[in-house]
Amino acid sequence: MKKIIITLDGYSSCGKSTLAKQMARALNYVFIDSGAMYRAITLYFIEHAIDYTNDTAVQEALKHINLEFDYNESTGTSDILLNGRNVENEIREMRISNLVSDVAANQFVREFGVAQQQKMGLQKGIVMDGRDIGTTVFPKAELKIFVTADPAIRVARRYLELSAKNPGITKEEVQANLAMRDEIDSTREFSPLRKADDAVVLDNSHLTREEQLKTALQWVNEKINSEVVL
Ligand code: C5P
Repeated sequence: MKKIIITLDGYSSCGKSTLAKQMARALNYVFIDSGAMYRAITLYFIEHAIDYTNDTAVQEALKHINLEFDYNESTGTSDILLNGRNVENEIREMRISNLVSDVAANQFVREFGVAQQQKMGLQKGIVMDGRDIGTTVFPKAELKIFVTADPAIRVARRYLELSAKNPGITKEEVQANLAMRDEIDSTREFSPLRKADDAVVLDNSHLTREEQLKTALQWVNEKINSEVVL
């Protein structure tokens, strides 16, 4: 069957990566979490005290960053490696979430991320989630999905996920972090978060995982069939 590129964009904690993983599994595609790349860069910047507002320092630091994905048999998805070190868990910590959107707004960080993501798409057969995948990384992707969910539901979902690993975390803290990241992501100068004109919208506020997957796979089938007919 013809392989396509599928992009999933949207605000923080809309369930994009859950859906992307489900789709990749069902289609036997590769799932790429572009947010993990910006998170790993942020971890490197913290560890090496790089000032993300200093473009010269940022450009120099990026020369020393190598990002790879490594398939993890036990989770059935890929972990991110920062210079060969598995940082999949570390990048989910709040200290990263609190800084990542500022780092990801830097022009050179964006150019670095986008170039690597575009290389990963050369083979097709990928599902990539992020903020600017349908608009900037793969503007010609065959299927673009813009995922949304009610803000209160997004906070509740993320709180549930984070409180398991961070016992002291509060709902207010989670809400403030999501609101801050969404604001920075949608107002930044270089590839801001926005819905691509040709993206379909999936509001999963009241959908089960099975229902959202079914809808998305229907769109995939329609795309593949329509591409064949054309
Ligand atoms: O997807 P996730 O929430 O893990 O992404 C972390 C952050 O990385 C986002 O809040 C956003 O600032 C940045 N990001 C981005 N472009 C992407 C993916 C993520 O700017 N394609």
